Amino acid sequence: MKLFVFPRWANKTRQLAGVALGVTPVYLTAFIWYGFSPKTTDVGYMPEQPVPYSHALHVGELGLDCRYCHNTVEQAAVAAIPPTQTCMNCHERVRTDSKKLLPVRASFENNQAVPWIKVHDLPDYAYFNHSAHVTRGVGCVSCHGRVDQMVEVYQHEPLSMSWCIDCHRNPEPNLRPPAEVTNMNWVAPGDPVEYGKKLAEQNNIDPPTDCSTCHR
Ligand code: HEC
Ligand code: HEC
Ligand code: HEC
Ligand code: HEC
Ligand code: HEC
Repeated sequence: MKLFVFPRWANKTRQLAGVALGVTPVYLTAFIWYGFSPKTTDVGYMPEQPVPYSHALHVGELGLDCRYCHNTVEQAAVAAIPPTQTCMNCHERVRTDSKKLLPVRASFENNQAVPWIKVHDLPDYAYFNHSAHVTRGVGCVSCHGRVDQMVEVYQHEPLSMSWCIDCHRNPEPNLRPPAEVTNMNWVAPGDPVEYGKKLAEQNNIDPPTDCSTCHR
């Protein structure tokens, strides 16, 4: 015979307590960070890079695809920053005497990466994954803006929790065929919401909103 039978809600309470306990330290850390780090609010953050590399030139004018350089974006959580070799594929022959390319040539000779400065940077307690978005048809432009028109890359969106969750609740207006994710000029045929709904149904797209999706 069982002496204690926990009512159903007791389970739920334990879960909730677990969430609260787990999240409180995160919250405190975040609260302190929030106050002192300029990184959290900065739409428009545009650090000066060691080389004046222009996406507007290389993507907008020369027509390079994002994946030529950020070649892990479909397979991995992190979108790779290209090694110097990728630049030298062209710059061994193009603009070989340009002063702007001095750090690139030095990096190639010394075998040391160009010290690019990170533009987008979520706090460590938040988990993000590029492949989970890109292979499901969320385009780069939805989260990074018109990179093909940026002479210097800057942060286009807030990257706040509510920004993530707003789209997870209502992804339809931001869906496109996965083959078009790097195409900055793509527009939905007809009404983007209706079109997105169709894609969401076809591909079973249903972004989770439980805490453990992004805090693990
Ligand atoms: C020829 C190589 C190349 C191509 C093509 C390219 N990028 Fe980049 N990208 C870079 C380099 C190098 C950096 C680091 C320097 C900087 O931030 O400007 C970078 C930085 C970025 C960043 C900022 C990363 C950070 O630090 O947070 C984003 C976002 C980005 N690229 C998106 C794109 C998108 C979207 C496309 C296609 C529309 C694209 N890139 C095409 C080379 C490239
Ligand atoms: C597909 C070929 C190609 C690749 C790959 C490439 N570039 Fe370029 N880059 C060019 C061309 C073409 C120009 C423009 C030359 C001109 O205007 O005459 C240029 C111009 C530049 C300039 C301006 C030079 C000046 O003196 O005005 C910089 C800086 C530069 N690239 C950096 C990079 C970096 C950094 C990478 C690697 C992340 C890279 N490029 C990859 C083709 C390339
Ligand atoms: C759903 C939103 C979203 C989409 C879609 C997206 N990114 Fe990002 N990207 C982010 C976030 C958020 C970060 C910062 C990640 C971090 O700090 O952990 C980031 C960071 C980057 C970085 C810096 C390296 C890294 O992974 O931290 C590059 C480069 C980049 N993105 C390129 C791209 C390219 C190219 C595409 C399209 C093929 C793309 N992104 C699509 C949200 C997105
Ligand atoms: C513009 C829309 C959009 C934005 C903004 C966005 N997401 Fe997503 N996210 C999606 C879609 C769509 C999926 C794929 C859902 C599916 O496969 O059913 C997804 C999936 C994910 C997944 C994988 C979930 C799983 O278990 O398969 C993670 C993790 C995630 N998003 C984290 C984030 C974080 C963190 C942010 C903010 C920094 C963010 N997302 C911003 C639309 C978005
Ligand atoms: C789709 C992704 C996503 C989901 C789902 C999510 N979070 Fe977050 N959360 C984030 C991101 C990204 C940040 C960092 C925001 C920043 O840097 O401003 C964050 C920050 C936080 C913070 C720090 C303070 C703040 O508000 O910025 C707390 C606390 C938090 N999340 C708790 C939760 C809890 C509890 C849940 C479940 C109810 C949850 N999160 C669900 C993405 C998510």
